[in-house]
Amino acid sequence: MRKLILTLCGSVVLTLATTVRQVLIPIECEQTGYYLVVDNDGTVFQKYFGSRLSTPASLLPNDPQKTNKNTDAEAYSAFGNGNTNETALRLIHSDGNMTTLLLYDSHRVLPSQDANIVVTEVVLKDPAYPLQVTLFYTAYQKENILTCRSVIRNDETGSVRLDGLASGYLVLPPGEFFLTHFYGAWSAEMQMKEDKLSQGIKVIDSKKGVRTTQSENPSFIISVSHPAEENCGEAIIGTVAWSGNYKLSFEVDNLNRLHILGGRNDFLSDYPLDPGATFSSPELILAYSDCGTGEASRNLHRWARKYGIQDGTMPRPVVLNSWEGAYFSFDEQTILKMIDDAASMGVELFVLDDGWFGEKYPRNNDKAGLGDWQVNRKKLPGGLKTLIDHAHARGLGFGLWVEPEMVNPKSELAEKHPDWIVGTPNREPILMRNQLLLDLSNPAVQEFVYNTVSGVLRENPGIAYIKWDANRHVENFGSAYLPADRQSHFWIDYIRGLYGVYERLSEEFPDVIFQACSSGGGRADYGALKYHHEFWGSDNTDAYSRIFINWGFSQIFPSMAIGSHVSFSPNHQTKNVSSIKFRFDVAMSQRLGVELQPKLLTPEELEWTRRGIETYKRIRDVVQLGDLYRLISPYDDTDRASMMYVSEDQSKAVLFAYSLRYHYREDYPHVRLQGLDPDKQYRVTELMPAPKPGKTDSTRPAIQCEGETFSGDFLMKYGIKILIRNAGESAVLELTEI
Ligand code: DGJ
Repeated sequence: MRKLILTLCGSVVLTLATTVRQVLIPIECEQTGYYLVVDNDGTVFQKYFGSRLSTPASLLPNDPQKTNKNTDAEAYSAFGNGNTNETALRLIHSDGNMTTLLLYDSHRVLPSQDANIVVTEVVLKDPAYPLQVTLFYTAYQKENILTCRSVIRNDETGSVRLDGLASGYLVLPPGEFFLTHFYGAWSAEMQMKEDKLSQGIKVIDSKKGVRTTQSENPSFIISVSHPAEENCGEAIIGTVAWSGNYKLSFEVDNLNRLHILGGRNDFLSDYPLDPGATFSSPELILAYSDCGTGEASRNLHRWARKYGIQDGTMPRPVVLNSWEGAYFSFDEQTILKMIDDAASMGVELFVLDDGWFGEKYPRNNDKAGLGDWQVNRKKLPGGLKTLIDHAHARGLGFGLWVEPEMVNPKSELAEKHPDWIVGTPNREPILMRNQLLLDLSNPAVQEFVYNTVSGVLRENPGIAYIKWDANRHVENFGSAYLPADRQSHFWIDYIRGLYGVYERLSEEFPDVIFQACSSGGGRADYGALKYHHEFWGSDNTDAYSRIFINWGFSQIFPSMAIGSHVSFSPNHQTKNVSSIKFRFDVAMSQRLGVELQPKLLTPEELEWTRRGIETYKRIRDVVQLGDLYRLISPYDDTDRASMMYVSEDQSKAVLFAYSLRYHYREDYPHVRLQGLDPDKQYRVTELMPAPKPGKTDSTRPAIQCEGETFSGDFLMKYGIKILIRNAGESAVLELTEI
């Protein structure tokens, strides 16, 4: 008589006598559950993903013969076990066999120092080949986040050719599914698009190699039964923690089930696994809610602040970044004056952008000097030290722009190390922004990149912030370092090399803030963010555009990680004109910075800038550390948008409301607040009300209830009337418990 082993909560093991062996593997957070069942023949099925079950043992069929291979999906499918859908694993064994059978070997909950993190390991083996796949599921209890990754080990006597190893595989029971994905381009990143999925496969992927998230982000939202809603319905948010080529596939099969596969892209990525070698996938991060996308995003944000980004409990400083204010045209005096002005505006950290380096080939435009990381003494005779000391003397931190993965052909680096440059033999190099990519699959290049950044930081101990740019992706494919039969390793080895450098730097310089810039939005992924504090959202600093871009980012990333700056009007990218108030009200809803030359501002603009920064400091903790509630989506065709943040103890909240066009005589709808404590009383204050047209000394408030007190219940049911109607009008309201 075989035994039924029933494992509950990963720790209690019950043994029941029965005729067959079945194993329930519960992977549970406080509110979310994912359950695997091992069938009597050793196949591991995924039975359920959703709200945590109170009686998961009911998933075990009374009659095991009723488990139906045609309707129950495997936990991790491999080509060869009768699977004809896209599979999580594809490989060719050393003897040429292209099929793999993955059967249950064991599972256990790994010991953990943190009770909030429960890692379940499930080991699968091929009965005919010495090859094993281990699945790791990490359940973050309080945040209700589940991550999955897989590791394969080849113990065959010859090499195995790995064709695809997904991070995670999720199958949803028959239904209707709506996919939201995040497409875009430089200056228009993270645009949201929702489609109903029909039979067939929809693939979201990147083949750009590095800096892959600008035109499609490796994230998705699946809504079940109806289009995604903020506050109701089943929503799954997923995102791949990988900065290289990724692939997400969504296949509706002939039973109307949805198969979701996520992980690295297998495109031209053969990875021979030598005997004894292991290979790991990146993580697929999943958030589930049966109360809509709002809750799923909040869970993801809470997880990210704790586990997904660097120092997620530390409020970010207000920066002035020199790019749009000075571009390449500056000298020491320009920067010293900018620092003075930044200090007088209340800025906390000054960032010197591109253009500070290059001796033989000075970096005075984007055509030369990239790669030559020596200070241009003609421009900055006192070196960085003079600037850093000047900033410190005025109470400011100092940050520096670098782009260490790249090189201009016109540079000393390119002359010295042509073999370090990614390029295709027998083909003309394709330039992007006049630059080429360094080959980070090569350990010597990894060392160079590490030395560049660590060298600058060591020689200039006062640098508190690094803006890490990356302004091109892979178009010339080819590594002079990798042998001919290992060229397909490039995609993976580059990113692993980059992560190795990031890791060393973040360990060695734990107090330095790292920004993943990448032309804006190019490395907005949790693979890179593990080593960064934030990313630069977009080179498009226009407030109108940023409302949409930031709305997309907010689905996946916490506000403190989204760099959003106030810049000039007319905007340098879009030429849109907007008031300084509107620009502040938009940028203040994320991690605020400014991207200005202060000396070009009018006295009124300067005054607004000072007040804007002061106001942001007052609300910063709520915006950066609070929970986000999205109230009115700019995608809803109303040309309005509104969102709010609520502190964890619900004692404070900040509401943002925007009007994106002239609304004739239509009023802004009463904005119903969310996330407040219904029993608490809140005082409502408008922050930085707009000036009366043509006047600077009197304001035109956007609310009629200034200073009044309401219950959370009233504010969430009745709401607040906001008097904004024209394009570019906005309001910021502070709610304080009294
Ligand atoms: C692209 C970045 O996104 C900008 O902010 C700026 O740093 C430029 N590169 C500098 O070349």
